[in-house]
Amino acid sequence: NAAPGILPSLLQCDFGNLQTEVERLVAAGTEVLHLDVMDGHFVPNLTYGMPIVEGLRRHTDLPLDVHLMISDPLAYAQPMVDAGADLLTFHIEAVDSAEHAARVAHSIREMGVGAGVAINPETSMDTLGDCLDEVDMVLVMSVQAGFGGQSFNPIALDRIRQLRQRYPELLIEIDGGINLETIGRARQAGCDLFVVGSAIFGQDDYSAAIASLGRAMVD
Ligand code: DX5
Ligand code: ZN
Repeated sequence: NAAPGILPSLLQCDFGNLQTEVERLVAAGTEVLHLDVMDGHFVPNLTYGMPIVEGLRRHTDLPLDVHLMISDPLAYAQPMVDAGADLLTFHIEAVDSAEHAARVAHSIREMGVGAGVAINPETSMDTLGDCLDEVDMVLVMSVQAGFGGQSFNPIALDRIRQLRQRYPELLIEIDGGINLETIGRARQAGCDLFVVGSAIFGQDDYSAAIASLGRAMVD
């Protein structure tokens, strides 16, 4: 596979042709889909919810990595799992404390799926406390959550380096402004999973775009 760890973000795809879009991504070597769920409250943007997740689930066996940019993650966790999510990532900014985050992660895992916690660039890493001991993945945002097409904030690289040192086994994902220039830097910092929106969906040929990203990652 030309694209280990590259997760296309279904935010800027053609939602009028979702099935075709997924087929094109699969043909390009995609192994996991990243779904951006926004509630118009936690972030000033609105995307989609369970019907799209459930519709995708009927058309693909790919794992669905669901990024919940919503104010009340637990209210929608079970419906998302029922719809077919395989991993649910909520934001540390959406809960009251690191202890609360650990409880939310525990509840998500009890639903039989993986739990991730995401952190925005402007949020202190201290807010995570010890909750990373209770999660399967940490999502280090390299843009403020809410919109595709923003430019990469390099604070994410320092964060990934620190996390990699402290948690050698933890799955680390990065999201926002990942392109041919930034993906290699994120890989070098110790990142495992790379969410990509514009750098794929802004191109006509997804296979070529993903293959170039795969090469840029290891160069
Ligand atoms: C931003 C979303 C991202 C976004 C990435 O809130 O979480 O997944 O789609 O898009 P690009 O790659 O364009 O920054
Ligand atoms: Zn995302």
